[in-house]
Amino acid sequence: MSLLPHGGKLIQKLFLGANVSHVEKEIELDAIALSDLELIAIGAYSPIKGFLSQKDYDSVVETMKLSNGSVWSIPITLPVSEEKAASLTIGEEVRLVAENVTYGTITISDIFTPDKQKEAINVFRTDDLAHPGVKKMFERGNVYVGGEISLVKRPEKKFANYYLDPSETRKKFADLNWKTIVGFQTRNPVHRAHEYIQKTALETVDGLFLNPLVGETKSDDIPAHIRMESYEILLENYYPKDRVHLGVFPAAMRYAGPREAIFHAMVRKNYGCTHFIVGRDHAGVGDYYGTYDAQKIFSNFTADELGITPLFFEHSFYCTKCEAMASSKTCPHGKEDHVILSGTKVRAMLRNGEVPPSTFSRKEVVEILIKGMGKTVNS
Ligand code: ADX
Repeated sequence: MSLLPHGGKLIQKLFLGANVSHVEKEIELDAIALSDLELIAIGAYSPIKGFLSQKDYDSVVETMKLSNGSVWSIPITLPVSEEKAASLTIGEEVRLVAENVTYGTITISDIFTPDKQKEAINVFRTDDLAHPGVKKMFERGNVYVGGEISLVKRPEKKFANYYLDPSETRKKFADLNWKTIVGFQTRNPVHRAHEYIQKTALETVDGLFLNPLVGETKSDDIPAHIRMESYEILLENYYPKDRVHLGVFPAAMRYAGPREAIFHAMVRKNYGCTHFIVGRDHAGVGDYYGTYDAQKIFSNFTADELGITPLFFEHSFYCTKCEAMASSKTCPHGKEDHVILSGTKVRAMLRNGEVPPSTFSRKEVVEILIKGMGKTVNS
């Protein structure tokens, strides 16, 4: 397995400090577009060089590939209102702005009205507005602007100590002499099941890239700053230091389940991973996706097309009879012997100051989560 970025080379669109004040028109970015702008510029979305043209957008929505044939499952779009779109012209350069700060520019190649209904059904497998990703997509502007971008100013780096670009993680992994690196996406604290699948993977690869998503998430997900504290304490106490690298992934969560699993894998390939963990209901929300849909979707592509090896894991749990973490692949006992708590249940326990069992989550992690929620622990 090679360590080549997706498409063969890491896209770089960083022109930091370039003076673009002569560019008159501007487009206001929301949090998703701002994070996408940065991720395109640093090569995390290679081979994408800008917000998708209509041709690439149609191709991604319909075939999960860019028009050049590269696997790409999530449309990276720049939505604007109809009024704004009417003021724009193909071929012109426009500044990309958030809260009066210019972060970059786009050279407009396309202005088009997408079929959002089709985007919802194809990308999210539902048009239900109760789905947070679908709701967000419909709330955003109704016209998409495509074109190559440049980044002239970096958005403020949240968690700067853990903020490496793909070029930097690649260098880091090479310096560590890791040949095989497994990427782990998460938007949650690392509970025992996560730890189990990470460590199972670590038994066969050189290093773990713990890469929590810290961009926009839905309001009832645990905030990134609390999660980061919980990752630090967990790594400190339970992981070998020289085999794990913690670095943030500044993207927004789409909750697109299977399609987002493919996207997450391609991006981690750009960060330098050779393997990527996909467990149960990866990037899912509610009951929109089957438990293993995010694994099954990988069979649409050849190993060469993917260029990163997915590592699939069954739903894991603690078994009181085995006295160990396990899954149905390794444990013969029944449900009554398994400690399975849903994320919703755990959040409710934490809100009430109740302590989830150590068979579900390490005590150090639970303490951070309870403290982070401003609660005291009930004994
Ligand atoms: S996600 O939305 O970022 O995918 P989460 O942080 O819960 O959510 O999951 C991170 C990764 O761990 C995903 O690949 C997910 O499938 C996997 N995972 C989470 N819980 C379990 C579990 N109990 N058993 C197996 N895999 C799991």
